[in-house]
Amino acid sequence: MGKFIVEKSEPLNGVVEISGSKNAVLPIMAAALLAHGSCEIMEAPVLRDVDVMCKLLSSIGSKVKTKYENNSIEILTDNVIAEEAPYELVKKMRASILVMGPLIARTGKAKIALPGGCAIGARPIALHLKGLRALGAEVKEGHGYVEAKADKLVGSNIYLDFPSVGATENIMMAAVLAEGVTILENAAQEPEIVDLANFLNKMGAKIKGAGTDTIKIEGVSELHGTKHTVIPDRIETGTFMVAAAITRGNILIKNVVSDHVKPVIAKLKECGVKVEDSDEGIRIIGNIRPLIATDIKTLPYPGFPTDMQSQFMSLLATVKGSSVVIENVFENRYMHIGELNRMGANIKIEGRSAVIQGENILQGTQVVSTDLRAGAALVLAGLIAEGTTEISDIYHIERGYSDFVEKFRSLGAKIVRIED
Ligand code: EPZ
Repeated sequence: MGKFIVEKSEPLNGVVEISGSKNAVLPIMAAALLAHGSCEIMEAPVLRDVDVMCKLLSSIGSKVKTKYENNSIEILTDNVIAEEAPYELVKKMRASILVMGPLIARTGKAKIALPGGCAIGARPIALHLKGLRALGAEVKEGHGYVEAKADKLVGSNIYLDFPSVGATENIMMAAVLAEGVTILENAAQEPEIVDLANFLNKMGAKIKGAGTDTIKIEGVSELHGTKHTVIPDRIETGTFMVAAAITRGNILIKNVVSDHVKPVIAKLKECGVKVEDSDEGIRIIGNIRPLIATDIKTLPYPGFPTDMQSQFMSLLATVKGSSVVIENVFENRYMHIGELNRMGANIKIEGRSAVIQGENILQGTQVVSTDLRAGAALVLAGLIAEGTTEISDIYHIERGYSDFVEKFRSLGAKIVRIED
C-alpha cells in the first residue's frame, strides 16, 4: 500500500498536459466487444481501472494489446468465450457492469457480478436493468450476480427516472444491435456519452442525439472495428484548475476541451480566479486578487460535476467568506469533510448541504483517501496546509489519475509517493 507525503508548496507554476478520459475510455473499451474486427483506442490513460478492464475483456475472450508507448489499446473480439464478469474483477472496478449491454447484444447472454456500493453511495443498477428488459432481455438477480439473456433484442422507448451515465451507456450499447429503433429519454448528456456514441457510429451504429436528453438508436445487424482517440479527462482538467487556484499559482493546462469544463470555469471566475482560454489551452491564474466564497450545487451534465465537488470544497475552505455546497447526485459524497476538518477546515454538514466557513489556515496531518476524488481533494488541501500531510489509501487516486505525482511535481508541488 502506498502513501502520498505532501508538503506546503509554492504557488504552482508551469504547464501540464491532460490525459485521456477515464470515464470515456472504460465504456468505449466495453463497446469494442460489439465489433467483428479490431478496435484501436488512442490516448487511453494509463490507469489501474484501464488495466482491470483489459483483464476483464481478455477473460471474456478478447485479444487485448496495450501499446503504452503511444497510449493505445487494441481490442480484437473474434469470439466470446465467457459471457461473464467475475466478482474478483467487478469488486475492483464497478464500471465492469458496462460489459453487460455489449455482451447481451453480441451473444444474447451476460452474467455480471453485482457491483455493490462504494464510499459515495449504494450505486444501484436498476435503471440499467429496466432498459435491458425494455429491449427484451430476461434479467434475473440472485446470489450476488445479475444474469441476462435475450434471443433477440428489439428497439423500444425507454425513459430513465434519473439521467444515469452508466445506464445510458449500457442501454445504448445494447440497442445498437437491436431490431428497430430505440428512443432513450431523460438520457445522460455527459461528454463521455457523446464520445461513446461517436465511437459506436464509427463502428457502423446509427445513433443520433447523444449529448442531449433524447437519444435515438436505429439498430443495425453488425458492427465493424475502428480507430478512435479518447477525449481529454474533464475531471483531471478541473482538478488541476483548482490546484492552480488553491495555491494561488499560474498554470497552463493543455489538451483540454474548455466546453467540457464550463461549469468549473464559471465557479472559479466567481471566486475571483482569472481564466484565459486560448488555442494553447486554459491558463488559470489564482493570484490576481484575494479569492472569495461561492456556492456549488452538483447536477448531471451540463451542471456542476459531482466529480469536482470535493476538490472545489478544498478550495472553498481556504477563501474568504462562507459557502454552501449541495451534493445532488450521490447520497454519501461528503466523506472528505471529516478529513478536511481534521486539517483545520470549518465545514458543517446540514442535511444534504455542507456549509463552509473559509479562510482557515489548514494544518498538515495524517488523512485517509475515501474515494478517488476525495483523495485528490486532500492532496490539494495538503499543498497549502502548514507542514506535512500524509495521505493513505492512495490506490483510490491511482485508479483514476495517470502520472498523478509526476504531473504535480512538474508544477512545483512538494509531493512524493512512499510505500508503507
Ligand atoms: C459515472 O458513474 C462515473 N463513472 C462517475 O465517476 C460519476 O460520478 C457519475 O457517472 C456521475 O457523473 C464512470 O463513468 C466510470 P450514474 P455512474 O449512474 O454511471 C443513481 C469518478 O470519480 N442511479 O450517473 O455509476 C446513482 O445511485 C466516478 O470518476 C440509480 O439510482 O453514475 C447515483 O446517485 C465516481 N439507478 C446517480 O444515479 C441506476 O440504475 C448517478 O449515477 C443507476 C444510477
